[in-house]
Amino acid sequence: MLLGRDQERHEIEQALAQARSGASAALALVGEPGIGKTALLDYAAERATGMRVLRARGIPSEAQIPFGSLLELLRPALAMLDAIPEPQAVALEGALALRRGTAQERFAVGAATLSLLAAYAEQAPLAVLVDDAQWLDVSSAQALLFAFRRLVADPIAVLVAVREGELSLLDGADLPVLRLRGLTSDEAAQLMPGLAPETAALLHRATAGNPLALLELATDPGDLALAPEGAPVLVSTRISQAFLHRAGQLSPAARQALTLAAASDTGDLPTLRRAAAALGTDLDALAGAESAGLVTLLPGLVEFRHPLARLAIYADADSSVPAAAALEQAGARARQRSAYADAAAAFERAGRLTADSGRRVRLLRAAGGAGWLAGLADRAALLLDEARAAAADPREVVEIDQLRGHIAARRGPVMRGHAILTAAAGSAGPEQAVAMLADAAGACFYAGNPAEMLVVAERARSVLPADASPRASFLAGITAGMARILGGDAAAGAEDVHEAIKLAEASAGLREDLQLVPWLALGPLFLRETGAGRSLVEDALRTARDRAAVGALPYVLNLIARDQVATDRWAVAEATCLEAIDLARESGQQTELASGLAGLAFLQARRGRERECRDLVAEALRLCRELGTRLYEIWATAALGDLELGLGDAASAAARFERQRQLLAELGITDADLSPAAELAEAYTRLGRDDDAREVAAAFTAAADAKGQPWPLARAMRIRGLLAADADFPALFDHAIRLHEQTLDAFETARTHLAYGERLRRARNRVLAREQLRGALDIFEHLGADPWADRARAELAATGETRRRRDPATIDELTPQELQIALALAGGKTTKETAAALFLSPKTVEYHLRHVYQKLGIHSREELARALATDGA
Ligand SMILES: Nc1ncnc2c1ncn2[C@@H]1O[C@H](COP(=O)(O)OP(=O)(O)OP(=O)(O)O)[C@@H](O)[C@H]1O
Ligand SMILES: [Mg+2]
Repeated sequence: MLLGRDQERHEIEQALAQARSGASAALALVGEPGIGKTALLDYAAERATGMRVLRARGIPSEAQIPFGSLLELLRPALAMLDAIPEPQAVALEGALALRRGTAQERFAVGAATLSLLAAYAEQAPLAVLVDDAQWLDVSSAQALLFAFRRLVADPIAVLVAVREGELSLLDGADLPVLRLRGLTSDEAAQLMPGLAPETAALLHRATAGNPLALLELATDPGDLALAPEGAPVLVSTRISQAFLHRAGQLSPAARQALTLAAASDTGDLPTLRRAAAALGTDLDALAGAESAGLVTLLPGLVEFRHPLARLAIYADADSSVPAAAALEQAGARARQRSAYADAAAAFERAGRLTADSGRRVRLLRAAGGAGWLAGLADRAALLLDEARAAAADPREVVEIDQLRGHIAARRGPVMRGHAILTAAAGSAGPEQAVAMLADAAGACFYAGNPAEMLVVAERARSVLPADASPRASFLAGITAGMARILGGDAAAGAEDVHEAIKLAEASAGLREDLQLVPWLALGPLFLRETGAGRSLVEDALRTARDRAAVGALPYVLNLIARDQVATDRWAVAEATCLEAIDLARESGQQTELASGLAGLAFLQARRGRERECRDLVAEALRLCRELGTRLYEIWATAALGDLELGLGDAASAAARFERQRQLLAELGITDADLSPAAELAEAYTRLGRDDDAREVAAAFTAAADAKGQPWPLARAMRIRGLLAADADFPALFDHAIRLHEQTLDAFETARTHLAYGERLRRARNRVLAREQLRGALDIFEHLGADPWADRARAELAATGETRRRRDPATIDELTPQELQIALALAGGKTTKETAAALFLSPKTVEYHLRHVYQKLGIHSREELARALATDGA
C-alpha cells in the first residue's frame, strides 16, 4: 500500500494521460535510497492501464554488461525490429548481441532505440520505466539519453528513477524533476502499525521519514539507541548495516550462496547453480536468506529484496579479482557491440591488473581508443598519455601516437595533434604514414596554417609508395590539392583535387569509408564549381545519415551549410547549421562546434540578426582560442564586419575587416576567396577614405586575377566600379554582373546591383538606377537579407519609386526544423525515411508537418513541394 505521495501520484497520472493522448511526457524521480522511488514506479506500472509497459533498471556491479539494461528494457519490443530502418536494426541487434555485428558509431544504437520505442508505441501508448538510473551501464545510458531527448509526439511516458546526487543519464536529459521527501509522521505511523506512538515519533525523527529506514528499523527499534538523539541517521549506511546484520545471522552455506547471488548480474539460478557447484557450495541454502527477507526466490531466478541489500553484501564479500584475460575478452566483446564506454572500462581494468608491461600498454591503448569512440575524449587522452609513457616497442609507440595525434587534431589544441602526428609518421609504414600526415594536414587546415599544411601534404606525397592503395593515393592527393589552393597555387591545387575526386568516384569502398567522409565532402566544395564532385558531397551526407553516423555528420553538415550560404538557400542553410551545431554539441565535437557557430554567425550577420550574431561570434571565438582553430576565427571576424556594414556602421565594419586582413597576413593565407577586400573597400568609400579603398582594390584585383575564378573576379570588379570615374563605372559593373552569372552566389550578385544602382542614382540616371535597385531588392528580399533590402528600398525611394516591404516569404514562417522536414518530404522522402535521416520518430515528423501545413495553409505534399519551390528553397 502506497501511503501519501498525492502530488507525485498526480504528476505520474498526468504523464500517463499525456502519453495516452498522443504526446510524449517525461518525469524524473529523484531521492535518497529507500525514499520510495521504486514504489512510485510500481505505482505507475499499476496505473498504466491500456498502456504497454517497458521496464529496466541499472545494476550495481563492477563488471557491467554492455547494453544489459537496454536489452532488459527493449526485450518485449524486439519483435518490432523489422519495422525500423534496417541499418539501425542491424546496429541494435549487434549491440544487444542478438547477432554478430560489426562495431558501429555509438549513436547508431541511440537512433535505433528511438525508432524501436516509437514503433512499439504505435500499437498502444507506452510507459517506459527506468529504475536505478545511476547504475545503468554507460552504453545503455547513452542510447537512452539520445532517444529520450528526441521524444516529442509519440504516445510515450518516460519515468526515470535515480538516487539523489548520483551521476546518471539524467544529467544530460533535462527532464522535469520530482524530488521525493520523507513521509509525514502520520504516514510513518501508518507504515508501522502497532508501534508505540513515542517509538514511532522517535523513528520518524531519526529517519526523516525515509520509508525503507522506517520499515527496517521498526523490526528492531532498540537499535535506535545507537543513534545520536534527534539526528537523522545516515540512511544508507544504517540500512546496509541492517542488511549485513541479518546476513550475519545466516548459516555459512547460506552466506556463501548469498554472496554468489550478489555477484551475479542476472540472478539466473541455473547459472548460479553451476558456479556454486564449482565452488563446492550448496545453493539450496538460499532458502535461509529468503526467510530472512533478504532475497526472493522466483522460478529460475533469485532477486534481492532491495538493491541496497545486494550492494551491502557484495561490498562486504572479499570478491575474487576476475582475471585480466576475462576482462580483456569482455572489452573486445563490448567493442564489437559498439559499447565503447564499457569496452574502455574493461580494457582499462584489464590493463591495470596485468603485470606484463607490454600487454598493459596494449590494453591501455585499446582503452583509449574505445574511450575516444565513446565520446570520452579527456579520459581517452589521459589513458593514451599513460600508455605512451610506458611503451617500449617502437611499433606500439606509433600506434599510440597515431591515436593521440588524431584526438588532439579533433579536440584541440589542433597544432599539438599536428606535432604528435608529424613526429611519429617517420617511424610508421608508408600507408600508415600517409593517413597520419593527412590527419596532420587537417589539423593545419583548422588552424589556418596553409604553409605547414603544404609541407605536410608534400611529405605525404613523397612517402606514398608506388603500389599505394587507392585510399592512400586519395588522401595524399586531396590534402595536397587543398593545401595548394589555400596557399595561393589555385590552378595546381584544383588539378590535384580533381584527380583525387576521380579516384573516389571510381571506388565505392572509398565513398563508403566513414573516416574519409570529411575529405570527400570538402574536396569538391573547395573547387567552388557548379558541377565537379557535387554528388560526392551528397553521397557523404547520405552515408553518414544512413549509418546514423552522428559523429561524421556535423562536419559534412557544416560544409553543406557553407555551400548553401554561398547560393540563395539561406533558410535551408540556417537549418543545416543548427543541426550541425546541435549534433556537434551532443557528440562533444569542439572543432565542429566552432565551425558551425562561426558559419551561422556569418549567415545571421547578413540577415541583420544582431543579437544572435554577436552571441554566436562570442562563443565561436572563445572556442577558437581554446582549440587553436584560427580558420574559424577568420569567419567569426568576417561575420562581425558584415554585421556592422549591414547595420550601417562603416567605421566599426572597417575595423573588423582590417582585423580579418591582419589575421590572414599573420597566418600566411593568401587565398583571394577569404579576403575581405571587397567589403573593406566599400566601408572605406562610405567613410570617404577613397585613397585607402583604392589601395585595397589594387592589391585585391591582382590576387583575383591570379586566381582567375569568376567569384573573386566579380568582387574585384565591383569595387573597381565603386571607385571609377563617372564615365567608367557602368562598364565595370556590367562586367562584374557577367562574372556573377557564372557563380551561384545570389548575395554577392545583389551587392553589385546595389552598388551599381547607387552610383547611377548619384549620376542622376534614375531609370537605369531603378532597374539595378529593383534587381538588388528582389534578391535581398528573397534571401531575407533585411538590412540590405532596407538599403535597396531606401535607394529606390530616392529615385522616386516606393516599394512596400514584402510580406515575409512563407518559408520564413517555418522553424528551421520544420523547414528541414518539409524539404525532405517535398524532395520525395517518405515520413519514415525523413524520420530516419533526421533522428526523429515518424510521429514527430508528422507532428511538425501538421504545423507546416497550418502555417502555409496547405493540405498535401504536392502543395508543399509547390510552395517550397516558389520560395526557392
Ligand atoms: N509511500 C510509501 N508508502 C508505503 N511504503 C512505501 C512508500 N514508499 C516506499 N515504501 C516502501 O519503502 C521501501 C523502500 O522504497 P523503495 O524501494 O521504493 O525506495 P527507493 O527510493 O527505490 O530506494 P533505492 O534508491 O534504494 O532504490 C519499500 O519497501 C517500499 O515498499
Ligand atoms: Mg529503488
